[in-house]
Amino acid sequence: MSYLVKPAAVHHIAALPAIERAAAAMFSPDDLPPHMLDEQTSLARFTESQRDDRLWVAVDASDQPVGFLLADVVDDTLHITEMDVHPDHARRGLGATMLRHVLLVAEHHGNHSVTLTTFAHLEWNAPFYRRHGFVDVSDAECGPELAGVLKAERARGLQQRIAMRRSVRRTERAAR
Ligand SMILES: CC(C)(COP(=O)(O)OP(=O)(O)OC[C@H]1O[C@@H](n2cnc3c(N)ncnc32)[C@H](O)[C@@H]1OP(=O)(O)O)[C@@H](O)C(=O)NCCC(=O)NCCS
Repeated sequence: MSYLVKPAAVHHIAALPAIERAAAAMFSPDDLPPHMLDEQTSLARFTESQRDDRLWVAVDASDQPVGFLLADVVDDTLHITEMDVHPDHARRGLGATMLRHVLLVAEHHGNHSVTLTTFAHLEWNAPFYRRHGFVDVSDAECGPELAGVLKAERARGLQQRIAMRRSVRRTERAAR
């Protein structure tokens, strides 16, 4: 099957909540408490992100979304708030391709780095991002807004959350 990663269009948005729900099944209840499964990203939030050019999709040959990446600006730099790939389409490099795409966008916008928060202990979270050049950021090294994101996640009951950062310049070097 062939896929494409591109900026989301309005007509892609309706498919995204189902992808988010399906991807959430990868987490055990110990990691994602059941009440949080109901806390889906709203259509309004997806629409706002699409309008702000901070939403990308991986689509199949029929232009049906199978994954998405939603970013925000945190401490003046691009921050990956959510990245999900439907399990039916997982482990085909779509997560890696969306990451590369966003790093190039960040570089184009003159951002110095891309940040995210993730689970430290899950193979498809921190170790996955480390393989793509992200490094752990200690709590003390977090900017004020990134620290706020982590604090809010921990307050909602998420354990073992860490912040990570990747310099966008490495994208350019890796491409040579
Ligand atoms: C993280 C995620 C977006 C990656 O999407 P993807 O398209 O599968 O990513 P890739 O194919 O580029 O790479 C997947 C890698 O993640 C790891 N991985 C994925 N699923 C895994 C699993 N069930 N068990 C162990 N490792 C897994 C592997 O290292 C895998 O590489 P491999 O297939 O070569 O072994 C996807 O796993 C997902 O939606 N997870 C649930 C939501 C989530 O964790 N989002 C990120 C939050 S910060």
